[in-house]
Amino acid sequence: MKDLDRQGLAKAKALFETGDVNSIEVGSFKGLLQIHKYLFNGLYDFSGEVRQQNISKGNFRFVNALYLVEALIKIEKMPEKTFEEIISKYVEMNVAHPFMEGNGRSTRIWLDQILKKNLGVVVDWKKVDKTAYLQAMERSPVNDLELRFLSPDVRCQ
Ligand SMILES: Nc1ncnc2c1ncn2[C@@H]1O[C@H](COP(=O)(O)OP(=O)(O)OP(=O)(O)O)[C@@H](O)[C@H]1O
Ligand SMILES: [Mg+2]
Repeated sequence: MKDLDRQGLAKAKALFETGDVNSIEVGSFKGLLQIHKYLFNGLYDFSGEVRQQNISKGNFRFVNALYLVEALIKIEKMPEKTFEEIISKYVEMNVAHPFMEGNGRSTRIWLDQILKKNLGVVVDWKKVDKTAYLQAMERSPVNDLELRFLSPDVRCQ
C-alpha cells in the first residue's frame, strides 16, 4: 500500500472512531465534499473541491466538468427510500465522479451513511470481492443489477 493510501485509510478510521462522521450531512452533495475533505485534507491539494477537468476510466467518461455542479444538485435530490433507489443514487454519483481522485473511497462512505440512515444497514465491504465490485461499477452506468446483487452482505448496525 502506498504511503498516501495508508494516511487516507487512517483518516477514514478516525472519521468513525472520533464520531466526526455524525457531523456529516447525509445524502447531499455537501456531505460528500465534507467526507472527501476529511479523508484527504493535507494529502491532496484538491480535498473537498469539485474537479474542473474532465476525467475518464477505461472508456467511460465521467460527467463533463462544465455540468458537474448542476449534476450534483440533481443527484442529491434523488430519492433514497428503498435499497434500489439508494443504489441508483450511488451509481449517479459515481457517474458524476466529482473529484480528481478519491471518488471511490469517499462515495462508498457516503453510500453507507445513506443506507444506515434510511434502512439501518451498511455494506460489509470486507465481504465484497474487489474484482466483482469493479466490474459491477464499470457496468453500472448501463445496468445496476450486478451492483445490487453484489451487496447481499449488507448488515444491520
Ligand atoms: N470504467 C469505470 N466506469 C465507471 N466507474 C468506474 C470505472 N472504473 C472505476 N470506477 C469507479 O471509480 C472508483 C475509482 O475512482 P477514484 O480513483 O477516483 O477513487 P479512489 O478512492 O481513488 O479509488 P478506489 O475506489 O479504487 O479506492 C472505483 O471504486 C469505481 O467505483
Ligand atoms: Mg484512485
